[in-house]
Amino acid sequence: MAGSMIQSVFLSLLALSSSFSSFALAAPSQPTERQASWPYGPFVTKGRDIKDTRGQNVVYAGANWPGAGDTMLPEGLQYQSVKSIVSKLKSLGMNSIRLTYAIEMIDQIYGNGGKDITINTAFTKALGSTNGSAVLKKVLANNPSFTANTTRLQVFDAIAAECAAQQIYVHLDNHMSKGAWCCNTEDGNSWFGDTYFSVANWTRGLSYMAEHGKSWPSLVSMSLRNELRNPENDATLSKNSYNWQDWYKYIKQGTAAINSKNKGLLIFLSGLDFDTYLTPVVQGTALTPGSGKYNPADFAGYTDKLVLELHNYANDASDCTGLQNSLYSNGFQALHAEDTKAVNVFPVVLTEFGFQQDASTWKGVYATCIASYLSAQKAGWMIWVVSGSYYIRSGTQDYEETWGLLSHDWSTWRSPQYVDGGLKPLIKNTVSP
Ligand SMILES: *[C@@H]1O[C@H](CO)[C@@H](O)[C@H](O)[C@H]1NC(C)=O
Ligand SMILES: *[C@@H]1O[C@H](CO)[C@@H](O)[C@H](O)[C@H]1NC(C)=O
Ligand SMILES: *[C@@H]1O[C@H](CO)[C@@H](O)[C@H](O)[C@H]1NC(C)=O
Repeated sequence: MAGSMIQSVFLSLLALSSSFSSFALAAPSQPTERQASWPYGPFVTKGRDIKDTRGQNVVYAGANWPGAGDTMLPEGLQYQSVKSIVSKLKSLGMNSIRLTYAIEMIDQIYGNGGKDITINTAFTKALGSTNGSAVLKKVLANNPSFTANTTRLQVFDAIAAECAAQQIYVHLDNHMSKGAWCCNTEDGNSWFGDTYFSVANWTRGLSYMAEHGKSWPSLVSMSLRNELRNPENDATLSKNSYNWQDWYKYIKQGTAAINSKNKGLLIFLSGLDFDTYLTPVVQGTALTPGSGKYNPADFAGYTDKLVLELHNYANDASDCTGLQNSLYSNGFQALHAEDTKAVNVFPVVLTEFGFQQDASTWKGVYATCIASYLSAQKAGWMIWVVSGSYYIRSGTQDYEETWGLLSHDWSTWRSPQYVDGGLKPLIKNTVSP
């Protein structure tokens, strides 16, 4: 105990000294403070594993919590408090959330002289004045620490703080540029340079959130971008840019935008075709149409911060072996240093998969196959989705989410059968050492 106290005093002195540039002390090897308590960050990667500062493996087992819709606010707060939603996830044994946000939120902050808009304005803009004020009233009744003048970012702050209190890791995901339901290939958010997807706004937004997230003890990782996809309604952009070569150019900009502001965070790289494959990165083959290859030296100083993320929605699968083989060749191969074709070894996290929450779907080929694969691989995952409903989705207010773990009013599990029979065992099988 004494040893660890001395160590933590020493570490905080180091942290203090490194924040005064005039001090000519040697910088600590880890450029951010090492935490001697939960979450034991900053995390680093070591081969296929994510390690905390105790050297223990970290395997994400969590749920997606959408906050990138039209309101650009985390969903569900008109039905429940932040605390009760986090408590629900915690009660399952989950250890993380993938909290999504839209770049437009940060664009509006810059467009508004650095000030975020209030939740009153956000609800009114997205839902109209009558429904907006009715929903706001319910949000405030459930979450009395908020007022009409609370800003959107303060709501994100409150979620991050509650996650810290309950020891839930926050993984922050840039889901969209424009705040809206995601995704299709014609929504203007598909690819770098698409209608709403300004690269400059994107890197600015990543930097902003990385910097802002320094005040969130629960924040351990950020993604670059959800579900990159072919911009099918822009033939020129599609032909000239939707490829691995441009992918690489932009992901280097995105990782630098995050790492330059917050050295502690892991950064998740997502693949093409709705983030369903990353094979050339794993196998170290040409990033076409060029001949360049993924090179760890391009991420000097933070090669041990990079994690791969994949999504899978092969819900119609009838053959589990085929599904598992495709997960492997699409990127989970990166977990396997013993495979000579896995030239670049990384941790891989399945940040989206999901299905109808009813009495039987969870027993089908897809759901059981994904669960057995993640358990065997000891790979991290985040299920889509916790939301029982959305403030608004694709123009429909109070939209029912039949894939939601929670019921419409976020009060109970939609499929208690799945939660007990499938989800809790999956959590146990993946996070246990
Ligand atoms: C406002 O809310 C009501 C009740 O939820 C709903 O029926 C109506 O469609 C909403 N208005 C709009 C413009 O969506
Ligand atoms: C919100 O801000 C406005 C303008 O500054 C102020 O008049 C109002 O009293 C504030 N409302 C609350 C609930 O804090
Ligand atoms: C980028 O952000 C600015 C505000 O700083 C905004 O005016 C502009 O529309 C944004 N670009 C895109 C493509 O959304």
